[in-house]
Amino acid sequence: MQHVSAFAHINIALIKYWGKSNLIKNIPATPSLSLTLDKFGTKTSLYKSTTKYDKLTINNIKQTGESLKKVVKFIDIFRNLANTKQYLHIISHNNIPTASGLASSASSFAALTIACNKYFNFNLNKLELSRIARFGSASAARSIFGHFVSLKGGKNIKDKKCIGHIVKYPKSLQVSMLIITCTKHRKHISSRLGMNHAAKTSPFFTNFLNTNHTLFKKAIKALKNGSFKKLGATMEHSTLNMHATCLTANPGFWYFNTTTINILNKIKKLRNNGHNCYFTLDAGPHVKILCYRKDAIKLKNKLKNIHNIISINIANPGKEAYII
Ligand code: DP6
Repeated sequence: MQHVSAFAHINIALIKYWGKSNLIKNIPATPSLSLTLDKFGTKTSLYKSTTKYDKLTINNIKQTGESLKKVVKFIDIFRNLANTKQYLHIISHNNIPTASGLASSASSFAALTIACNKYFNFNLNKLELSRIARFGSASAARSIFGHFVSLKGGKNIKDKKCIGHIVKYPKSLQVSMLIITCTKHRKHISSRLGMNHAAKTSPFFTNFLNTNHTLFKKAIKALKNGSFKKLGATMEHSTLNMHATCLTANPGFWYFNTTTINILNKIKKLRNNGHNCYFTLDAGPHVKILCYRKDAIKLKNKLKNIHNIISINIANPGKEAYII
């Protein structure tokens, strides 16, 4: 095949994956629950390479070093399955800031998985693709699917079972997410490094694992019942538990900046004044707010004057990854 393009959306975890139970197979230490979002994502095109090596371009910048290595290793999974030495030119475009905690690795590896499946003529189903995407980035296993998606994790979860699953929820639960960008810079510590360091050195890490298993069950129940407030509160608890493992690692680290903290304060205030809004944070300073769809514009207007916010985008539940 000469050329294939695929698109995958980002997903934001309500219940966080943070830490691995199997480093080689990239199996998360806890289950997670995410929401795939419409607006943002990655388009990846694969071309037959004229050279004897893979070439990778992200947002028009030629990649070398770790970023290229990770992608080459991932494509090797497909090459080994197909028993071929075909090298590729991979051209990727993210309409999100890369590596700043806005889940670009999830949409990148999900798009790459879908594209490789087509390019190498595999015709694997979405569950199998989700499993393979996990080897690139565990959160990518969730971006294969649309809307709310769960991913298993824990000591007893085997490779074959560690795949994303769509979680059905009542149509009456109409949510949006505000994506508040708080910096233009790359994050100083990647999620992979951050979670491994926290797992190794934070005395809070075991507590995080236990708590997150319980929060996962609570969130799934709330989602299935369409209970927005319970879902939001459980989401906040999971994110703060995750970030507590960073603060208490040795040496400790944090992903927030002052804008992040100002937004969290404002969200608490808004909630005290009767607004329905809950925050979550990933491995970067950006804040994501879960709200009812009908309230999204009103909340955006209440938040937009916070100092140093770069942008606020309203996103809605998005669809599964697809071939263009
Ligand atoms: C904080 O999926 O990027 O966004 O599997 O090592 O590539 P690797 O990690 P990655 O970590 C995502 C961490 C998170 C929480 C989440 O998305 O569940």
